Amino acid sequence: MRLPKEIAEPLLIWYRENARDLPWRRDITPYRVWVSEIMLQQTRVEAVKPYFERFMRELPDVRALAEVEEERLLKLWEGLGYYSRARNLQKAARQVCEQYAGELPADYEELQKLCGIGAYTAGAIASIAYGIPVPAVDGNVLRVWARLTGDERDILQPAVQKRAREDIATVIPADSAAEFTQALIELGAVVCVPAGEARCAQCPLQAFCAALTENKTDILPVRAKAKPRKVVPMTVLMIFDGERVVLHKRPDKGLLAGMYEFYQLGGALTADQVAQHVRSMGLEVTKIGQPIAAKHIFTHLEWHMTGYFVRVDDVTPVADRLTCATLDELGSKYPVPSAHRAFREAINSLDACAQ
Ligand code: ADE
Repeated sequence: MRLPKEIAEPLLIWYRENARDLPWRRDITPYRVWVSEIMLQQTRVEAVKPYFERFMRELPDVRALAEVEEERLLKLWEGLGYYSRARNLQKAARQVCEQYAGELPADYEELQKLCGIGAYTAGAIASIAYGIPVPAVDGNVLRVWARLTGDERDILQPAVQKRAREDIATVIPADSAAEFTQALIELGAVVCVPAGEARCAQCPLQAFCAALTENKTDILPVRAKAKPRKVVPMTVLMIFDGERVVLHKRPDKGLLAGMYEFYQLGGALTADQVAQHVRSMGLEVTKIGQPIAAKHIFTHLEWHMTGYFVRVDDVTPVADRLTCATLDELGSKYPVPSAHRAFREAINSLDACAQ
């Protein structure tokens, strides 16, 4: 089934009455739409709000983003995860300064040439900020589309997503593209929600919904099962001399690129093995704490971590990419991934207890 043009009017009326007041919906600019959409990928609205406001205060325009130091940028992103989003944002900001005089292009195709901007983000910027009638199809919108049309194919297939974009493009009202895009996203976020929770009684599009008519809201959209994630055991060492802790800067490419983490080793080491390793780094170990277990789930893998607090006489940067940071600097300067949050909290509370 294809989408009927008649969905636009009730959807827009519903949106005007029900839109949430969100920071990126106030003072809409291409830059604000862009940054918010990148933050909102894989991250909940409530979690994004304070990050977005702080980011806008500190980096209010494309030029400021292009020029900020990478470490500061990653610090502003710390906790949001998927840090390549922040790095790509900066690469694209530099492209925009060099090629478009600091203004995001008002063109769906040109936007997609920028680093980290795919069909969805380009559609969101073009339609929400520039009013261009092009589709912006993210997971929320795909779910709404699959239910309305009753399409039972796997929504992760690029061909199905292309079909959704083409279908939606035919029903965007030329004079209300900005509201229409936001309305579809909003409907998917608050009414046409996943997994048996859909609030169909509140939906302005009930009369058009194949899934509702056929009693299939619980099985649509269809999504192929993901492969099981690889489990990687890790040992994390909080090497601390009472004042400073050892940090390792991750490589410039790959997982958590450029982030600072506690010293980490592959495998699950015992306290004795840890002591031996730290001594081999040339440090004087005075105490090893009880193991602390933590887990972090990435898209394709899981770290199952055992953390040890390792008290040493004096931390010194003993190898390439190792840094020593005070606990204040850990909070304010170095971007530490959420994967190590449990250890950061442990070291902070231990320090607080010692005061
Ligand atoms: N999810 C993705 N984009 C969004 C937006 N602009 N507003 C609310 N939720 C969203």
